[in-house]
Amino acid sequence: MTAALASFCAIMQRYQPTQTQLMYKVFETADAAAYYTAQRMLKTIQAMPEPVLGLATGSTMEPVYAHFLQLLQRDPVDLSQLTTFNLDEYLGLSVTHAQSYHYYMQQHLFSKLALPQENIHLPGGVASDAEAACQAYSAAIQALGGLDLQLLGIGSNGHIGFNEPQTSFASRTHVVELSEQTRIDNGRFFADQSEMPTHAITLGIQDIVEAKEVVLMITGRHKADIVAQLYHSPIDEALPASALKQHPHLTIVLDREAAALLPSQAFAVSSLSSAQAV
Ligand code: GLP
Repeated sequence: MTAALASFCAIMQRYQPTQTQLMYKVFETADAAAYYTAQRMLKTIQAMPEPVLGLATGSTMEPVYAHFLQLLQRDPVDLSQLTTFNLDEYLGLSVTHAQSYHYYMQQHLFSKLALPQENIHLPGGVASDAEAACQAYSAAIQALGGLDLQLLGIGSNGHIGFNEPQTSFASRTHVVELSEQTRIDNGRFFADQSEMPTHAITLGIQDIVEAKEVVLMITGRHKADIVAQLYHSPIDEALPASALKQHPHLTIVLDREAAALLPSQAFAVSSLSSAQAV
């Protein structure tokens, strides 16, 4: 065990949950899972005077933001005190690049929200001093008292944000070299695979696990393997998402397909129609 991992385990030890206490919520469909996650976003905003949300990108999150916008239409809330921090961004892509996460967030959420521009934060993909920008990003989250809710997807290699396997669990916002697996997985979104960036900037694992609540949402049969690996894995830097396993307020939100390789005793299937509340 590395020194960083030992210190991480020591910090988390006070919670001492067991594997079976992991909180799975499994829904019949990906859409129902997304609806549940959108409701969690809304509940956090309603519960906190100055909510701070950690947001994620990727195809998994698209229906979450669509549901969230619909919920807001039905039940408008004041967003003037909301602050958001995105997880990650490709290094070298401008904010107007169609595959940048800045562009994604504009397209799926921010252009449709009455959210003060200065309350929106994403890591800078083209910062001149990336190291200083990384430190400032983690510091800005801490200055606001940390993240109230962190949304996460997962990479097929178990990455969270862009924290690739073997990233230190003590990491703060940093620049990463993307793994070959991630470049293959995410290259599908680029017209030409050679345009896929080699590096990204990501919130660190320590920043993520300090969030007061974490919702890890995973959908689709193609993610069933990593869901099962996560279930069986010890807390180990080889599987970045395993850092979440001792978080006291983690919910793993799955659709039935992503849960296909989990032992059935691990969860009960929830049925949440779009009319029901969390
Ligand atoms: C990227 C992001 C991750 C995200 C993952 C999954 O690698 N950096 O934050 O969780 O994609 O993406 P998808 O939902 O498209 O499978």
